[in-house]
Amino acid sequence: MSAPALEFTAEEERRILRHGPWPPASRPDPSNRVSGKPAAIAFGRALFFDPRLSFSGAVSCATCHPPDRAWTDGLPRSRGPPSLFNLRFNRWFGWDGAQDTLWAQNLRPLLDGREMGVGPSGAARLVRSDRQLSCSYRRAFGVAPGADDAWIFVDLGKALAAFLETQVTGRTPFDDFRDALARNDAAGQARYPAAAVRGLRLFLGRGNCAFCHFGPTFTNGEFADAGVPHFIKPGRVDPGRHGGIRKLRRSPYTLLGRFNDDAQRSTAAKTRYVRLRQSNFGEFRVPGLRNVALTAPYMHAGSLETLADVARHYSTIDEERLHAGGERILRRLDLSAREQVDLVAFLKTLTEKTPLHEYVEKTGNALCR
Ligand code: HEC
Ligand code: HEC
Repeated sequence: MSAPALEFTAEEERRILRHGPWPPASRPDPSNRVSGKPAAIAFGRALFFDPRLSFSGAVSCATCHPPDRAWTDGLPRSRGPPSLFNLRFNRWFGWDGAQDTLWAQNLRPLLDGREMGVGPSGAARLVRSDRQLSCSYRRAFGVAPGADDAWIFVDLGKALAAFLETQVTGRTPFDDFRDALARNDAAGQARYPAAAVRGLRLFLGRGNCAFCHFGPTFTNGEFADAGVPHFIKPGRVDPGRHGGIRKLRRSPYTLLGRFNDDAQRSTAAKTRYVRLRQSNFGEFRVPGLRNVALTAPYMHAGSLETLADVARHYSTIDEERLHAGGERILRRLDLSAREQVDLVAFLKTLTEKTPLHEYVEKTGNALCR
């Protein structure tokens, strides 16, 4: 059984192989001293579901990021809470990249009065006064909560980060195909649907999608203008990355600040050298595409409902509106209806077969009761 659709050029094969293997190797985050520690993971998981971290006492992280909906709220026209998968591989956090660590990103809703807004002193008071929280804190960090509110507050972000780092997506049909290609296993390759092979070719070739959606996570980790309107309301635009860099510079919670647990600042180079450029205006973080079929609606403000809408968007993009300083990576693709269907068929093969991640509590004895 020879399937001509499966004959790839050496260049195509090289490009496909770059999107794996999965999962990639990873190590603890040096800026977070409890990264990877089981007691911190258990504490972070409990905090994620705890509404006492909101000033109203009614909102938890899980209110907007419910685990049974791939951590996103799934509501049309939402502000688009992103899914919380594969964050440990990110360099920047938030659509605008205003945070340079996962722990700092977790503090943002706790600081924002429109989200949870408990703030540093409210959070520290709660942890010190609640027997169960202070006991879990001690197990996670090895010491009782101290007198410095700001440190206790940041430590909550770090425990939450230890938990969210465990949320790595499982293997997908694409990964099986990619690995079959790597070991020259024709039968293994033949199991991958023909429509997905055609969609993959478009993704790597004429569509140039992999320029930005690169590597095992399907993102280069940086920012781009994908031609999505960024009006918040008439006359007000979301500055995207431009605003994110300005926030990053003002924030005390970055890799350059006093809360980084890594004295060498070994992961801080990108933060140190980030430069504000006019072309950052209207740029948003390139999202990873694993499990993308589970996380509708799409784009930073949830403006596209389905993957078919996304395929149509790239097919009919208005090149005049892109203000990517002369790079011209995105072009109007004019894909046929069938090509759009193929592209979506490929994107659907990025859905995990069996989740690797566990959010339900298994490590009961790591927590205090
Ligand atoms: C009121 C709704 C709401 C609540 C509550 C909320 N979030 Fe979010 N979350 C969002 C939205 C919206 C975004 C996207 C913000 C942006 O980047 O512009 C987001 C982004 C994130 C991200 C960034 C993901 C990425 O891809 O960069 C993380 C991590 C996150 N939230 C974790 C949490 C944690 C932990 C909590 C609880 C402490 C929490 N969120 C509470 C709505 C919420
Ligand atoms: C120039 C870089 C770039 C290229 C090329 C590119 N994308 Fe994107 N992609 C982005 C950015 C940036 C976003 C987020 C845009 C926003 O929210 O405003 C995005 C969003 C997406 C999303 C939505 C993901 C989500 O979670 O909301 C999908 C799906 C997607 N792209 C698929 C593709 C496909 C398929 C192609 C090729 C036809 C492609 N992209 C080409 C940068 C790019």
